[in-house]
Amino acid sequence: MQIISSSNQRNELYEKFKLKIIHNSCLDRSLVSYQGNRQTPFSSWFKYREGFSERLVTYLLQTFKLEPGVLIDPFSGAGSSLFSASALGWQTTGIELLPVGIFATQARIIAEKIDVESLNLEITKLKQINFQDYYDQLFIFNHLAITRGAFSSINEEQLVGYISYCNNVIPNKDISTLFLYAAFCILEDISYTRKDGQYLRWDSRSGRSKVNSEFNKGEILSFEDAINRKLKQITSDLNISPIQLDLFSDNLLLKFTTNKSNTVENIEPNLYEGSSLEILPTLQDNSIDFVITSPPYVNRYDYTRTYALELAFLGCSEEKVKYLRQQMLSCTVENRDKRNFLEEYYTAKGCYQDFLKIDSTFKNQAALQEILIILENNKKQGKLNNDNIVRMVGNYFYEMCFIIYELARIIKPGGIVAMVNDNVRYAGEEVPVDLILSDIAESFGLKTRYIWTLGRGKGNSSQQMGNHGRTELRKCVYIWEK
Ligand SMILES: C[S@@+](CC[C@H](N)C(=O)[O-])C[C@H]1O[C@@H](n2cnc3c(N)ncnc32)[C@H](O)[C@@H]1O
Repeated sequence: MQIISSSNQRNELYEKFKLKIIHNSCLDRSLVSYQGNRQTPFSSWFKYREGFSERLVTYLLQTFKLEPGVLIDPFSGAGSSLFSASALGWQTTGIELLPVGIFATQARIIAEKIDVESLNLEITKLKQINFQDYYDQLFIFNHLAITRGAFSSINEEQLVGYISYCNNVIPNKDISTLFLYAAFCILEDISYTRKDGQYLRWDSRSGRSKVNSEFNKGEILSFEDAINRKLKQITSDLNISPIQLDLFSDNLLLKFTTNKSNTVENIEPNLYEGSSLEILPTLQDNSIDFVITSPPYVNRYDYTRTYALELAFLGCSEEKVKYLRQQMLSCTVENRDKRNFLEEYYTAKGCYQDFLKIDSTFKNQAALQEILIILENNKKQGKLNNDNIVRMVGNYFYEMCFIIYELARIIKPGGIVAMVNDNVRYAGEEVPVDLILSDIAESFGLKTRYIWTLGRGKGNSSQQMGNHGRTELRKCVYIWEK
């Protein structure tokens, strides 16, 4: 494809969608993301930074579909969409690749039905013990290369003693899992590390030889303090009254009153552990009413590095972490091409024609091909700070084509897809993720109802889409319908 001017195709796409790009003042950052969000009790236990707020899910469901139906989130993370929707009576399914989100979701399912009295009793017993006394070699912390030295020796010894106690002494499996989850939630607090987007940042006190910065993360809690605080938070949230819960979310209030009065059926989320690229193609045509999701953004954030402590805690080996990194939707410079795999997978399922359609949609997305050529030129001129950025951007959209194709196939006519995502920029060149994905969605029969922008406004106009390093990038919620 011949590119005439550097932002021609993107400008054309902008013209196509400009009337759909609408600033939605109801959607501020605090409603959409975990970070600025007034958290509900359960979601505040574990800081899943990539999570979105449960109020956003309630807002979307109440705006578009008042009657409960079937909802799926193919990148369900810690499960915020699943829990808020099921509290409103929806039947929900989540797909999540990383054991981190899976464990957080399972722990919450357990927490929601735990016997609080028995839990309080076990906590009282726990207060009497010395964790080191229960230390069992069987439960040593199997570090990954990138987590070694993350804890002081006293914290690690206590952590292992506590894990051993949970596994060897606590008779009730659910309480033991919830106690283990409490330890999982404090790993960062008791370590020399801080999660920082693409990697783990190390505190200079760690003594790790490679650390040459002056970074100081502030107070590092002792294991004992941290676990006591976490368990206190968990029990006080579980003991909380419906009136108090209302301070956090109408949705949760409904859930609690629901549990007691049985007026709305509260169905447990159904969870798949694995890649959406493999699981979505196994789901039935026209079977879903609503998709609410936030895929990884094409921003180089590597969840397998930032959540390395949690992955090690969950027993993931070095090989398993590398495998997960490659299975993730391509959003890091290390992700390799999944084209051959997808071709074989679709062929084996007897869906080769679908594969060809998806593959050609990718190749014919003109604005995307324009960006890939520009990025390739930037790479040749040494203007990218990592050469694999071009590959990452290409693979990201390639895989998203498969995801969107499958979503368009599985939702019912009249069904809605709501997707949260941010635009990005490399070498000063804007990648209008919102416009490209919406155009791909339209190729597969979806209609773009809105591209709602958050934050200050509409972001770049078409004239600014070329190399303008300082202009605001859109952060959006796209609404597509079938
Ligand atoms: C932006 S986060 C979504 C967080 C979620 N909305 C929440 O509230 O917790 C994207 C999620 O997609 C997951 N993920 C990445 N690649 C995946 C894949 N191929 N299949 C399924 N999940 C994947 C990541 O592990 C991450 O949890």
